[in-house]
Amino acid sequence: MDLQSQIEDKKLPQHIAIIMDGNGRWAKKHGYLRAIGHKKGSKAVREIVEACAKINIPFLTLYAFSTENWNRPKLEVETLMKLLVSSLKKEIKTLQDNDIKLNAIGNLESLPKKAQKELLDVISKTKQNKRMTLTLALSYGAREEITKTIREISLKVKNNLISPLDIDERLVNEHLYTNNLPDVDLLIRTSGEQRISNFLLWQIAYAELSFTDTLWPDFTKKHLFEAILNYQNRERRFGKTSEQL
Ligand code: FPP
Repeated sequence: MDLQSQIEDKKLPQHIAIIMDGNGRWAKKHGYLRAIGHKKGSKAVREIVEACAKINIPFLTLYAFSTENWNRPKLEVETLMKLLVSSLKKEIKTLQDNDIKLNAIGNLESLPKKAQKELLDVISKTKQNKRMTLTLALSYGAREEITKTIREISLKVKNNLISPLDIDERLVNEHLYTNNLPDVDLLIRTSGEQRISNFLLWQIAYAELSFTDTLWPDFTKKHLFEAILNYQNRERRFGKTSEQL
C-alpha cells in the first residue's frame, strides 16, 4: 500500500510547521553555491505545499527567514529576498489552483519594500481561499513575538483598558502573530539538527516533534507522509494518562 493511502483522515494534524534546514549543506555537497541550494529548496516548498493541500492539512507554516538570518552575508540575504519575490510571483497560480490562502508572520516591516508589496499583494489576492492556510514566517523570531505581545498587553494595562487579572492564555494568544492559527500539532525539522531555533515557542507547547536527516532540498512528499504516519502512531496525552483518553 502506498504511504499516502495509509494516512488516516480522522487523525490528520491540523497544523504542521516546518523548519526547512540544510539548503547550504545540500549546495556544498553537490559543489554548488549556497544560492542554488535555496533555489532547490524553493522547489521543495512547492511540492510540500501542494502535498499538504491535497491531503487536506488545514494549516501549514514554514520557517522561511528568521530574525537571526539577517546576520548572514549581505549577498545571501539579498538572494533569499529575491527568491521570495520571484517565488511569490510564480506561485500565485499554484496557490489559486489549490485554493490556498497565503498568510505571513514576523516583523514584516523589516523586509525590503518590494518583498512587502509582493507579499501583501498575494495575501490579498488569495484571502478568499479556503482549503489551506499557508503561513510564511519571515523575519520571524518567537522571542521577538513574545516580547511584542508583552509590550502590547502592558500598554493596555497602563491605559486602564484591561486589568492584570484579565491576562490569560487566550489574551496572550490574541496578541501573537499567530492569533488566527491553531496550536502546532506536528513540527518537522530537516537536516539532522535537533533544535527549535526560536520558532513558534508558545505555539508548539504540545506539538509532536519530527526530526529527519534529509536536507530540505531533498525533502519530498514521501518524507512528509512518513512524518505524518509516524505522528498518527503516537499517543498525544496532553498531560493526561492513557486510560483517560
Ligand atoms: C535553511 O538552510 C533555509 C533557509 C535559511 C531559508 C529557507 C528558504 C527556502 C527553503 C527557499 C525559499 C522559500 C520560500 C518560501 C520562497 P540553510 O541555509 O540554513 O542550510 P545550512 O544549515 O545547510 O547552511
